[in-house]
Amino acid sequence: MKLQMLWLALVLIAVKINAAKQGNNTTIPALIVFGDSIMDTGNNNGLHTILKCNFPPYGKDFPGGYATGRFSDGRVPSDLIAEKLGLTKTLPAYMSPNLKPEDLLQGVTFASGGTGYDPLTAKMMSVISVWDQLTYFKQYIATIKQHFGEEKAQNILDHSFFLVVSSSNDLAHTFLAQSYKYDRTSYANFLADSAAKFVRELHKLGARKIGVFSAVPVGCVPLQRTLFGGLLSPALDSLDKELDGVIFYINVYDTLLDIIQNHEKYGFEVADRGCCGKGTVAISYLCNSLNPFTCSNSSAYVFWDSYHPTERAYQVIVDKLLDKYLSKIY
Ligand SMILES: *[C@@H]1O[C@H](CO)[C@@H](O)[C@H](O)[C@H]1NC(C)=O
Ligand SMILES: *[C@@H]1O[C@H](CO)[C@@H](O)[C@H](O)[C@H]1NC(C)=O
Ligand SMILES: *[C@@H]1O[C@H](CO)[C@@H](O)[C@H](O)[C@H]1NC(C)=O
Repeated sequence: MKLQMLWLALVLIAVKINAAKQGNNTTIPALIVFGDSIMDTGNNNGLHTILKCNFPPYGKDFPGGYATGRFSDGRVPSDLIAEKLGLTKTLPAYMSPNLKPEDLLQGVTFASGGTGYDPLTAKMMSVISVWDQLTYFKQYIATIKQHFGEEKAQNILDHSFFLVVSSSNDLAHTFLAQSYKYDRTSYANFLADSAAKFVRELHKLGARKIGVFSAVPVGCVPLQRTLFGGLLSPALDSLDKELDGVIFYINVYDTLLDIIQNHEKYGFEVADRGCCGKGTVAISYLCNSLNPFTCSNSSAYVFWDSYHPTERAYQVIVDKLLDKYLSKIY
């Protein structure tokens, strides 16, 4: 009799594990993000780089109104997506000095403003390459195992949403710096191969639900079309077929372009210049408290500085995109 009960219990456990493995409509335990300034929530604060923004007027619309190292007036997509998944309103930066192990459970961002798939991009800017971000991710999983056990770590790997947002800086800066070495096609090929390699590495480390963002509309536009439409999107489709889990491409480029071109439809007044700074070139070190030209209502602007959208524009993008892709990760 006792033996029968034991069998029944084992069968029930097996059924339960199987249901969890199928992953249909399980909850997402964490959001784990890699990439650049679109997703950085403060990882550059302690680095020796000019690509920082932990000073006003950055963060003027952040809860409490203070600058955290987010490259916007308020929250950035890491936060907004984490909120949409029901996890947290602000996603911690892995490099934050005061993180406790519990703070890691709902996810973190390893993203570093200025980085790219091309190792030279991070090197030129003295920021954290996406490859080094993978090393920190290994450390993250080890910490989860140590404090919360193997099973918890496995649950995070199996069911979390992993997001990679890189390549804007490769396209906007590094390509030009290497024109002696690459033409458009060969650089696009190099970036697509690098992105696919990154996804493979992440999958090897255990990630199973992986979304890869296209770049934002900056830099060389024909290069972007070759990279995303022609190369990266099909490469990710074939990875999705080859590897277990779900791997998909998220077209943020066309979404942001639509918001810029039809900004009035989305309730924005200004789309051709940033809220912070006067002209069209104002990134971190030019957008600061000495700059007298910061607009008062960021919500009327698509761009915060010449490069980064405002929180409100990010919110529009995240709402539009996530509704479309959410069914893939549940
Ligand atoms: C999950 O999958 C199982 C088996 O495929 C199915 O019976 C169940 O209805 C699904 N649940 C949801 C919420 O989709
Ligand atoms: C998952 O299931 C719950 C309850 O069964 C439901 O309320 C929720 O909408 C489902 N979520 C998704 C993404 O299907
Ligand atoms: C800010 O701009 C938005 C969009 O144009 C508008 O809806 C809102 O009322 C403005 N807020 C203030 C305080 O002017």
